[in-house]
Amino acid sequence: METVTWCKSAPAPHASVVPKAGHMTMSGDRIIALLDMDCFYVQVEQRAEPETWGRPCAVVQYTGGGVIAVNYEARECGIKRGSSVPDCKSKCPNIRLFYVPELRGKADLTKYRNASSEVFDVLLTFDPNLVVERASIDEAFLDLTDIIHSATRSFDHVSVAGVSVAGTDHSLHDLMSAVSEEDERLVTGSQIVNLIRDQVKEATNFTCSAGVSYNKVLAKLCAGFKKPNGQSVLPPSSLNAVFAQTPIGKVRGLGGKLGQELKVQFGIETMLQLQKVPKYLLEAAYGQKTSHWIRELGNGNDNEPVTSRIVNKSVGSGKNFNGLQKMEEVRYWITQFASEIIERLTQEKNTNGRMATNVTITVRHAKKQSFSRTIPLKEYNVQTVTQDLEKELIPRLTKDGQHLLQPIISLSLISGKFTDNQTKRAVHQTPRIDSFFSTGDPIASSSTSEPLVPQDLGEEDDSQDSCIEVVPTSPVSPPQRRGFFYRKTLELVRSGSVS
Ligand code: CTP
Ligand code: CA
Ligand code: CA
Repeated sequence: METVTWCKSAPAPHASVVPKAGHMTMSGDRIIALLDMDCFYVQVEQRAEPETWGRPCAVVQYTGGGVIAVNYEARECGIKRGSSVPDCKSKCPNIRLFYVPELRGKADLTKYRNASSEVFDVLLTFDPNLVVERASIDEAFLDLTDIIHSATRSFDHVSVAGVSVAGTDHSLHDLMSAVSEEDERLVTGSQIVNLIRDQVKEATNFTCSAGVSYNKVLAKLCAGFKKPNGQSVLPPSSLNAVFAQTPIGKVRGLGGKLGQELKVQFGIETMLQLQKVPKYLLEAAYGQKTSHWIRELGNGNDNEPVTSRIVNKSVGSGKNFNGLQKMEEVRYWITQFASEIIERLTQEKNTNGRMATNVTITVRHAKKQSFSRTIPLKEYNVQTVTQDLEKELIPRLTKDGQHLLQPIISLSLISGKFTDNQTKRAVHQTPRIDSFFSTGDPIASSSTSEPLVPQDLGEEDDSQDSCIEVVPTSPVSPPQRRGFFYRKTLELVRSGSVS
């Protein structure tokens, strides 16, 4: 990464227009980052075929299927996730299309999962004080609070070149002159994340982007601002400027029905408008608990901890269909999914000593018509699982045991509720995020009808699973002490000599 020296004699441009932070009590004491790999599946393919670096490339989900990942060169030609192969070829004749391998008649994501493990290996070995939470196959939340406070390491030498301040035209250098305590820690956090991104690149040859802020929601929001291979920081002072431009649906937790409903109900589009909806109106519509949660989000507050967890909360397998008609087809596909899941669960048991205890099947008939059934996972045996699930499904799906009453457009299995100590602790300690919602709240009711795993090749995004998983207590309670590194950074920031 390019290094820019910030000289003492040269004041940072625009420094005076960066407002001072005034949200210490609201923003809390944490420094959180979200790291997201750039066009991840494409990078995995390009690394294996290095002559394609710099060339437009995309990953296609089955022969004749749609595009699921697009590199930035191909995005310039107008290619998007979901584009068809002919569309790619006509818009971008020199595009290199990679096809996801298939196993058991469906996508085999093993190579992307393995590449993901390489990235997580870097994160896990970076520093013992770094809390890493896997958010999806190509994303991790990082809690930097402890590293920043610890006196064990110095990151003084790390550049903040290329880091932008969200909601402003400023570079991070500008922020460095606005010496609020929180901004200083954000600067330090940004340096650490810059270093982590360098190390990921060095170890894996993959680039990634990141957002640094004081909670998960804001870190995730600004992680997308400087893609690819870029980084943003969102200080409290930029919150309103950013929220003025942020559509409600872009915010973690508001991407689904609740966000949509808020927009319609109050005739609003942005987070800043949401912030200004009167408390009594929100309470009238959503009750006290939910409206409190919404108002907190509107003010950029989010207390969800980063949980030290790199293993998946669940293992899933699923597929979309044109319309299955027969019970024997359902049986066939359940067997395929169960085989994949049990293979992966067995691997997980051997690697991490954890065992899953339940399995959920989700059946989708039409766009808005689906149901799920959860049964105990008695043993890691494909036949037993298939038979147990069939017993649950037959009365609901067919009258004669052969023909389906309604065609099925997607099927998925997800297995979870692991028996390891970490998960057990988590379950008993902290309420899940949707416990903020009273029964009948839109978010709570919508989560029951949504499929638990993305279909087909859908990314295994644990944020989706979080609707069925309890959020554990923060492993990081922000210490009050100020470490060597903090003091050192403060000194450097104040003297303007950070490079
Ligand atoms: N993915 C998928 N189906 C989806 C969403 C994502 O298969 N509906 C896969 C993609 O192939 C992708 C990876 O999961 O490479 C990570 O997804 P995401 O971070 O959303 O996109 P990227 O392709 O990594 O692109 P970006 O640079 O925008 O992060
Ligand atoms: Ca990504
Ligand atoms: Ca992602």
